[in-house]
Amino acid sequence: MTDARYSPTQITLHWLSAILVLVIIALPYGSDLFAGLLGGAGGVFTLHKSLGLLVLLLTVLRLLVRTRDGAPQLLPADARLNQLAAKAGHALLYLLLLLMPLSGLLFGKRPLNLFWLVEIPPLPLSDAVREVAKTFHVTAQYLLFALILGHAGAAIWHHRVRRDNVLRAMLPARD
Ligand code: HEM
Ligand code: HEM
Repeated sequence: MTDARYSPTQITLHWLSAILVLVIIALPYGSDLFAGLLGGAGGVFTLHKSLGLLVLLLTVLRLLVRTRDGAPQLLPADARLNQLAAKAGHALLYLLLLLMPLSGLLFGKRPLNLFWLVEIPPLPLSDAVREVAKTFHVTAQYLLFALILGHAGAAIWHHRVRRDNVLRAMLPARD
């Protein structure tokens, strides 16, 4: 099929999550810049954590929608290796979209001020568990960076070099 596409719900959730993830990453790295806007370093992490939990929620929702709507078959049936690489890349992205916020949630020692609205008390965990979760969070970020770069690079390569339907499948239909 040449005009196969993800469903409108999937497309909305994909781009919303993509923007949120980039903001979530930018916040701690640009904390000096954002602290002025968010009332100090505490505000930067309040937003980082709140958006992170929002991404966790959106990802669970995405996976449910995916079981309902499925995913379009975009690569030629005989491109087995490409299909495998795309599947593995997407599965890892989904895994990190779940594990990054979960690990963040696990290692926090102080109450989490969700969008400055509700306080969530820290989970009653041992320091050892917190340490593992923190190590995961700050290490797995590099895997996430590599995946995002490879993922966006592959999408642009498909669009500009192969000139196929892969990127269009994740863009809203133009009638
Ligand atoms: C999609 C979700 C998330 C992503 C992609 C993400 C990514 C990151 C990145 C890139 C850093 C910077 C690490 C560094 O300075 O080397 C970081 C730090 C941090 N994150 Fe997240 N995060 C997410 C969700 C969360 C959540 C939900 C929480 C807490 C509830 C959280 C808590 C923290 C904390 C406390 C730090 C500072 C760690 C330190 O002391 O250096 N994160 N995160
Ligand atoms: C400029 C940035 C991005 C572009 C151009 C882009 C493009 C695309 C495209 C074209 C697809 C469909 C590929 C296919 O089915 O073969 C896709 C799927 C996907 N993208 Fe992105 N994306 C971007 C950013 C991100 C980010 C930041 C994340 C998460 C951290 C992400 C996570 C995913 C996931 C999990 C899928 C699989 C969807 C599914 O099959 O259920 N994307 N993306």
